[in-house]
Amino acid sequence: MKIALSFALLQPLLIAISSASAESLADEFLFPGGNTIYVGVDYYPEHWPEERWETDLRMMRKAGFNIVRVAEFSWVLFEPSEGTFDFDWLDRWMELAKKHEMKVILGTPTAIMPAWLAKKYPEALSQKADGTRTVWGGRRHNCFADQDYRRLALRVVEKMAEHYANHPCVVGWQIDNELGGNDCRCVKCQEAFRLVVKDRYSSLDEINRAWGTHFWGQRLHDWKEIPIPADRVGDWAISNPSASLDWQRFTSQQSIDFLTAQADIIRGKCPPSHFVTHNFMGLHASIDYYALARPLDFVSWDNYPPLGPAIPYDSSLAADVMRGVKKQNFLIMEQTAGPLGWSVFSLNPKPGELRKICYQQLAHGADGQIWFRWRTCTVGREQYWHGLLGHDGKASRRYREAAQVATEYQELAPKLAGTTLHPQVAIIYDYNSLWALQIQNGYPGASHAEAIKRYYNALLRAGANADIVRPSDDLSKYKLVFAPHLHVLADPDAQNLSKFVERGGVLLTDCRTAVKDETNLAYARTLPGLLSPALGIEISEYESLRQGIDGTTETTYPLLATGLGDVRYNAVRYADWISPTSADVIARYDAPHLKDFAALTRNKYGDGIGWYVGTIIDDPRFYDAVVARLLADANITPIVKPPAGVEVTVRSNEVTALLFAINHTNQPATLNVPSHRPNLLSGERTEDSITLAPFGVAIIELEAAAKASGPLSVP
Ligand code: GAL
Repeated sequence: MKIALSFALLQPLLIAISSASAESLADEFLFPGGNTIYVGVDYYPEHWPEERWETDLRMMRKAGFNIVRVAEFSWVLFEPSEGTFDFDWLDRWMELAKKHEMKVILGTPTAIMPAWLAKKYPEALSQKADGTRTVWGGRRHNCFADQDYRRLALRVVEKMAEHYANHPCVVGWQIDNELGGNDCRCVKCQEAFRLVVKDRYSSLDEINRAWGTHFWGQRLHDWKEIPIPADRVGDWAISNPSASLDWQRFTSQQSIDFLTAQADIIRGKCPPSHFVTHNFMGLHASIDYYALARPLDFVSWDNYPPLGPAIPYDSSLAADVMRGVKKQNFLIMEQTAGPLGWSVFSLNPKPGELRKICYQQLAHGADGQIWFRWRTCTVGREQYWHGLLGHDGKASRRYREAAQVATEYQELAPKLAGTTLHPQVAIIYDYNSLWALQIQNGYPGASHAEAIKRYYNALLRAGANADIVRPSDDLSKYKLVFAPHLHVLADPDAQNLSKFVERGGVLLTDCRTAVKDETNLAYARTLPGLLSPALGIEISEYESLRQGIDGTTETTYPLLATGLGDVRYNAVRYADWISPTSADVIARYDAPHLKDFAALTRNKYGDGIGWYVGTIIDDPRFYDAVVARLLADANITPIVKPPAGVEVTVRSNEVTALLFAINHTNQPATLNVPSHRPNLLSGERTEDSITLAPFGVAIIELEAAAKASGPLSVP
């Protein structure tokens, strides 16, 4: 089949581009001069004999690497005893980096406190719910409320920033390492929590209302009565979902404050050309990543996808979240480089697999790429977390593949500069909903992220890309918005979604949406609350289909679906009993007691359409069928419909659009593509279709004909 690259297909792209923000700090930092892109490795000079340093740097340069991240766990080396600082060892390595014209990202070393600190200031170690302290020797085991830890951590950052502010190799800073998961339950954290909630709620009457303390006699008469909420559901310490949500916000903010304090120090000491970033963890959800991204110049993240011949959907979604939290491209700070694991290790990436993992991220907005790690360590916990080089330090197959990627990236850099994704689809990703559903599941295993994945994966299979947005974001540039399990929905955000539909947008939402307000209290309304008119439904009853303590006894309802093909689907895990008010019924449950209720509805509202899915289906084809209907309703035609196991995205700017096609399988894959276009990686022009090798990648330039006839950047 011939796919002509019609203006009709490209037009939405160009429209989206013209309404997108032009500002991109990432371009400034990550495409220095517009013609280079950072590609390199995470390196630990302290793990290797000094005589080896230069060999390593030489090999890195030979592979085409131009950047190295160092120092992130080196606090005890910089400050061997309290107040005594020593940067000589790293200075010596930096001299060699200078000699080999290597750029450097410095990691601040605060994720691991020195032993002397833990010994002298035992309260710097976090406290567990049972009152015991974390034992020193791991990572990320500090209490953020401990003033000694904070003072000493910020001092070592200040000393580092002063020392390296003018070093010619330094281009930027990674603050700490993978912040998240802190849950210290000491009295200092409790006191800090009290101050935060006092500030948030101003009066005891207000906190009593917001936390619903008239339940179980939890009324508070003094701010000092506020405890740390239970750490587990079912604990008989204060077990109050509203308090727990505020505690989650508090621990998230502790990390953000710590990061902000470090960013302020670095910006105060270093020239503005130094970027400040942090290595995020994709779909990790203990910190509000929208807020964590705010003090940074751009987001970086650590990508460790499952290995093997299948689409690692979560890595695509995580990349989109990373692009979405700051509405900007991102850097890969740690990228899988070999078999991984702390105790047992995984598959070895097969030939081509590392390369396609990199391109998957590039396709979703990565503007640079750093492998974790350079060489597999011979000591410590990560002896089996393999690097590009094995324990033996020899140039290996993985090293050569990484070198190929580095060369290709440099050739692609001028084309990539200033491009990003401009999808017509958005997905609402909301930390309040993530957290509230963790605190109180509702039905067993309910999860905002898992709900998103059901639709996201289907979108990806359909060849459509999505932006990740907040419920309060301006949605006007999108045609189709997904809001699955949007459990916490403030009234202004519900109005935002309703207006989006009224003005012509297509909205999909599903189970457990709009159940809670921002303080995690259930609305005293018929579901789906303020979204009822836009969706044309009311939900008077609902049920969890898994029973028993472990949720193993399962009821299922066959689905009577109309307009979703002939497949017989089963509703599992949860069922809304939907009464349509104005919506059309797309599917019902095949159960006598549910014959009057809908499972899936579609409603015309204003100029748009509101869809509601009231259950979960154990067959991905259901989501493929729903997504196909939604794309049709929204008048979105993906440029390419990828075959199974192949992923496509489009990165574009005002002058060019680059179609990425990535084969995640270990078999050749053929896909129809626009013809007569340059394939930037092969140097050939496309026919009506292309065949990708196992783990193969193509980047096809979809630009105006005049430009397309110009020279290719890869000969
Ligand atoms: C990451 C971390 C690295 C390293 C790696 C392998 O999460 O940032 O420092 O530990 O995992 O375990």
